[in-house]
Amino acid sequence: MIFPDRFKDKIVIVTGAAQGIGRGVALRIAAENGQVILADRSDLVDEVAHEIMRSGGVAITVKTDLETFVGAQTVVNQAIEHFGRVDVLINNVGGAIWMKPYDAFSEEEIIKEINRSLFPTLWCCRAVLPEMLKEKSGVIVNVSSIATRGINRIPYSAAKGGVNALTASLAFEHAKDGIRVNAIATGGTDAPPRKVPRNSTPLTEDEKVWMQQVVDQTKERSLMGRYGTIDEQVNAIVFLASDESSYMTGSVIAVGGGDQG
Ligand SMILES: NC(=O)c1ccc[n+]([C@@H]2O[C@H](COP(=O)([O-])OP(=O)(O)OC[C@H]3O[C@@H](n4cnc5c(N)ncnc54)[C@H](O)[C@@H]3O)[C@@H](O)[C@H]2O)c1
Repeated sequence: MIFPDRFKDKIVIVTGAAQGIGRGVALRIAAENGQVILADRSDLVDEVAHEIMRSGGVAITVKTDLETFVGAQTVVNQAIEHFGRVDVLINNVGGAIWMKPYDAFSEEEIIKEINRSLFPTLWCCRAVLPEMLKEKSGVIVNVSSIATRGINRIPYSAAKGGVNALTASLAFEHAKDGIRVNAIATGGTDAPPRKVPRNSTPLTEDEKVWMQQVVDQTKERSLMGRYGTIDEQVNAIVFLASDESSYMTGSVIAVGGGDQG
């Protein structure tokens, strides 16, 4: 469902907007008349911006690596340069790179998982806060995961546990400044094949088994026994990003068919 005025006059950063859930959020917010800054390190993000502009929406892209603070600062600087302020930040970059038992992870892989699924959110929150503090208003939505209680991706689970802690603690710190911070714990979500793969190395036979174990656990823990859709995740994210959730901060809402994460 589209509510045409929900994001009217709102300036919204969406990270990881080139595909999947981030793309869905960007299209929905633009359709609801938000002006969007689409941040991604893939050039495919330009296609999403063109799609929005073809429909009469307003979008700019910033192509940068959000695993670095300088990348996050670049996104915020571009937003300020074009639109003068940031009303909403949606931290969507993340995603498990490997699925395997913890004892099979190397030191390097563990660091890569934390860099992928914790640092972009930490950096973007840090970069946007001074601007929201100036405005004495702002909304941050972090995209977490039900994997905080899940097998075969412990470093990712730990990163998303960090996102949940960051969400609650930042909400405590800045409620007095008019800044709300919430998260959704995304459940397993059906999506078209990824144009930007999380891991471009073909899966080994062992990795196929470990991946299937994650799929099985996800379905078993969902009371509905199924994966969700991108739209079902987008619905919850845009609710938290909008003024409809004005009395909510520090919450992590599970969107996993009843799996609370
Ligand atoms: N898809 C699921 O089933 C699922 C389940 C639980 C949680 N989530 C969470 O939802 C979010 C989105 O998931 P998805 O499956 O749509 O993601 P995805 O992997 O399909 O897309 C991620 C996007 O982020 C971009 N990106 C990755 N690293 C980046 C970086 N360092 N700098 C800039 N851009 C970067 C990629 O280019 C890509 O466009 C993630 O945080 C993920 O952890 C997803």
